[in-house]
Amino acid sequence: MDGWTFHAELVTKTFGEFRANDEISLEVRPGEVGGLLGPNGAGKTTLVKQIIGLLKPTSGGLRLGPYDLVEDPAAARQLRSYSMMMRSLDALRD
Ligand SMILES: Nc1ncnc2c1ncn2[C@@H]1O[C@H](COP(=O)(O)OP(=O)(O)OP(=O)(O)O)[C@@H](O)[C@H]1O
Ligand SMILES: [Mg+2]
Repeated sequence: MDGWTFHAELVTKTFGEFRANDEISLEVRPGEVGGLLGPNGAGKTTLVKQIIGLLKPTSGGLRLGPYDLVEDPAAARQLRSYSMMMRSLDALRD
């Protein structure tokens, strides 16, 4: 199948002494759907923010096809489609 493979390799993100992502590696090939499962505070949102160019990894690599998403966060931002869950807005639904 045509398309680009997404690679995360040993992605680590620290906030001061705290390690929110610890050497995460994964691959999503064309036609596959990737997901992140984990308890609150596991580091899912932190990883997504790095993939879409909103946070810079402390170390490790992120690639989508020809794009190096760490070195080229502008490309990462152009490629992304990210919708945050806003619990406060749920109250507005009838
Ligand atoms: N900017 C930040 N500064 C310091 N610590 C942070 C920062 N962002 C996230 N953290 C910490 O990193 C850890 C991972 O947070 P993250 O939001 O990535 O988890 P999560 O898996 O998305 O959780 P949830 O399921 O609640 O959405 C948490 O302990 C959080 O407090
Ligand atoms: Mg989250």
